[in-house]
Amino acid sequence: LQDNGHEQLIGVIDAGTRTITFGVFISQHIKEISEYSIDVEPVVPQEGWSEQDPLKILDAVKTCIKKVIANLGEKRAKNIITIGITNQRETTIVWDKTTGKPLYNAIVWNDNRTDETVDVVLAKVPDNNKNHFKPVCGLPISPYFSAFKLKWLISSVPAVSKAIKDKTCLFGTVDTWLLWNLTGGPDGGKHVTDVTNASRTFLMNIETLYWDTQLLNTFRIPAEILPEIRSSSEIYGKVCDDWPLAGATISGILGNQQSALLGQSCFKAGMAKNTYRSGCFLLYNTGTTRVQSSHGLVTTVAYKFGDSPAVYALEGSVAVAGAAVKWLRDNMGFLKNIGEETESLAKEVFSTGDVYFVPAFKGLYAPYWRKDARGIICGLTAFSTKQHIIRAALEAVCFQTRDILEAMNKDCAGVPEIPLSKLYVDGIMTKNNLLMQLQADIIGIPVIRAHSQDITALGVAMAAGSAKGIEVWDINAEARESVPIDTFLPTSTEDERDARYTKWKMAVQRSLGWVS
Ligand code: G3P
Repeated sequence: LQDNGHEQLIGVIDAGTRTITFGVFISQHIKEISEYSIDVEPVVPQEGWSEQDPLKILDAVKTCIKKVIANLGEKRAKNIITIGITNQRETTIVWDKTTGKPLYNAIVWNDNRTDETVDVVLAKVPDNNKNHFKPVCGLPISPYFSAFKLKWLISSVPAVSKAIKDKTCLFGTVDTWLLWNLTGGPDGGKHVTDVTNASRTFLMNIETLYWDTQLLNTFRIPAEILPEIRSSSEIYGKVCDDWPLAGATISGILGNQQSALLGQSCFKAGMAKNTYRSGCFLLYNTGTTRVQSSHGLVTTVAYKFGDSPAVYALEGSVAVAGAAVKWLRDNMGFLKNIGEETESLAKEVFSTGDVYFVPAFKGLYAPYWRKDARGIICGLTAFSTKQHIIRAALEAVCFQTRDILEAMNKDCAGVPEIPLSKLYVDGIMTKNNLLMQLQADIIGIPVIRAHSQDITALGVAMAAGSAKGIEVWDINAEARESVPIDTFLPTSTEDERDARYTKWKMAVQRSLGWVS
């Protein structure tokens, strides 16, 4: 490890769907010493669409960095030797490389305007099989992934097709947009992404880790607009003079769910974590083996450190978790705050009173992958109250997690660690003790909650700090402070769990096929 007598600080840009944060870690330490966050409001031009202004993302990052520098003091902030970027994945941005201006708003991962684009692609594959390209890219055909959004942009936004013709168009996920701007923008910005983000575009070959010609042809996407795919931990470039922290290197990039997997120290094959935020994402480390799911999970790159081989994961992605509680607050007016009030209201009742809430607002992701599903609340009686429905929204998160675990157990039957004996969890929703207990009761295994809220940022801090040429962070788990945990043990019987899960599956069936 480097030791120049100074504190060795690592900055992390965590550009999530709702919140942008800049935080700072001391190498080998799990807690940020300073952080500043700004919420980014989505732009919703019409139902089902979700956009963000890419320039506002940049502004938010810049403000967060400045606030943290002010908080640490200029002198101490100089010890920030390198920066990691972790980000909402799949979100798609196109811009003009000569002006640096976006050609359209960012299309956010959960936007479902590309339903028709999906149908066009499905119509071209044998038997309309949504898993047709899974052996190549690990993903099912779904509006979730970037290629569908990019295809929509090329065919629906004249400025994009023109920029492609003029050879001035660049595409990137949020990591790439940030890196390009931080490293100089039109003045030599690095047009690069990492394998984890690239693995969510539907354009990368999951085996070769290069853009796949067959997929590019399918979507008619010109290769020259795509960033170079690099590892998750290496020096990509330096912050340019227009930004605070000019001169610092940028040496880690990870999609936010992969970053949380590292932050949870799930380094070994057989370890899994679930992150509960607006969505919910369960990743199971499968080591250097690419496990092909036949039960609705996706194969994704977990991380790749420099020249070491890529490590893979099976992922279960749930589109709506905390977003369901937010909907109960914003659209139904059931509560004022989604923090403690959710737990206290849900605790006012002892059960959901047999109410089930399937929050399929934008279809269902794993393991169903049904864009025709829509949300339902069923089992209502004259006795049902908002408390029952709030509790059912929490249970929906837990049942969706069980859906993923069931699929994982089937996909990995015979693997010694399967079925999983415990689940590591993190994310803002995990502050809710009732949710944690319900989760343990619904899946029947201990739920291990990380005390720290900095888990997602921690993962990429480790990647950035351990990159070749930086080497201030020893990546093996024992070498760092360990994250304090709470354990929630199941209190339900198997019969109770299974009876309730059967009801959940009935509710899911009713949500399918709602839109054609
Ligand atoms: O795949 C989408 C995921 O990366 C979004 O993460 O937690 O920022 O909503 P989050």
